[in-house]
Amino acid sequence: MILLDGKATSNKIKEEIAIEVQELTKSGIRAPHLAAILVGDNGASLTYVNAKVKACAKAGFESTLVTLPLDISEDGLLNEIEKLNTNPEIDGFIVQLPLPKHIDEQKVLMAVNPDKDVDGFHPTNVGKMALNLPTFLPATPFGILELLERYKVETSGKHVVVIGRSHIVGSPMSILMSQKRAAGNATVTITHSRTKNLKEITLQADIIVAALGIPEFLTADMVKDGVTVIDVGITRIEDKTKKNGFRLAGDVHFESVSKKSNFITPVPGGVGPMTIAMLMKNTLLAAKRRG
Ligand code: GUN
Repeated sequence: MILLDGKATSNKIKEEIAIEVQELTKSGIRAPHLAAILVGDNGASLTYVNAKVKACAKAGFESTLVTLPLDISEDGLLNEIEKLNTNPEIDGFIVQLPLPKHIDEQKVLMAVNPDKDVDGFHPTNVGKMALNLPTFLPATPFGILELLERYKVETSGKHVVVIGRSHIVGSPMSILMSQKRAAGNATVTITHSRTKNLKEITLQADIIVAALGIPEFLTADMVKDGVTVIDVGITRIEDKTKKNGFRLAGDVHFESVSKKSNFITPVPGGVGPMTIAMLMKNTLLAAKRRG
């Protein structure tokens, strides 16, 4: 079993990015600037968004965190987005999801200038991604492709089973891995909560991407020997023995599934750090486009 070490790989990518930033600034171009909007004070979102901002600062990026109250109106949020859209100092920004129920997520994502949409969530960028045109790829699927590529996991002609059809992970993952590209050319099956005989399907998978958000859902009896497993899930589970009161669990029952796997991502330290590294890569790309 080989661990797909997202932490080590993301550190390497961040070093590569930092070198590029140094070269940019040496040639008189200012450093990339990423902004993040966080609505409310959801513990997990706050942790993620802080990690994104911190990672950017470490690589020599400028970063700005815009925190807004949980009860901000939709118009109030759209107004903040417009400020970032028109601020020439900002190369790219993200609106951390999920948003409170009274705010229409689609409306918000469509308000982001596609040229600054480093999450790749705007319909213009989703369309480009689906057509395999150059664009900002959504950071989590992008990170998974990068991890598979760097560990030389063969995907061409392989059967990939994606569990989950979210707009952030499952749907783009299934599109990208079926495309003619690095870590692509796979035969992809996308499954979800209405799928019948899921186990029958996962048992046929060479590669499984588990992105459904149910802790330890994928168990050893559902996978064949030699499988590659990508665990996108990260759920906080109450654990009184831990200092912070919780432990993190993925969508995969790691202990049993890892015994049958050729390659597997850990949680934490797998997909999560890769997501941050790829967000930075997208922000660097936005800055380079600006020139
Ligand atoms: N919430 C969970 N994943 C993501 C992500 O990749 N981007 C944003 N903006 N919010 C998220």
